[in-house]
Amino acid sequence: MGTSMAKLIVVTRDGTEHEIEGDTSLTVMENIRDAGFDELLALCGGCCSCATCHVHVETGAAEQLPAMSEDENDLLDSTTDRDEGSRLSCQLPFSEALDGLKVRIAAED
Ligand code: FES
Repeated sequence: MGTSMAKLIVVTRDGTEHEIEGDTSLTVMENIRDAGFDELLALCGGCCSCATCHVHVETGAAEQLPAMSEDENDLLDSTTDRDEGSRLSCQLPFSEALDGLKVRIAAED
């Protein structure tokens, strides 16, 4: 099976929208990091313990996202920029169903 790609839109802190080809075998965090957006620190490498991969889901298939775990919810509570679209991007497997997903990198804590 080959890797499949879907569109992922990343809004950086300066408000610029960047469209990238997201790899559906990776998480949203890994796609953002691998595309070179260094303002998404993702310090813990995706094990749901740092909250530096915080994004705001802006549009696109929010109902397709996996439910939030208690750990993710607690970590998001520790951030200053939480809103109803907040997610930890390392907890979001990217998929073709999420084609066109737009996420905005949250403010730095
Ligand atoms: S990368 Fe650390 S919680 Fe997501």
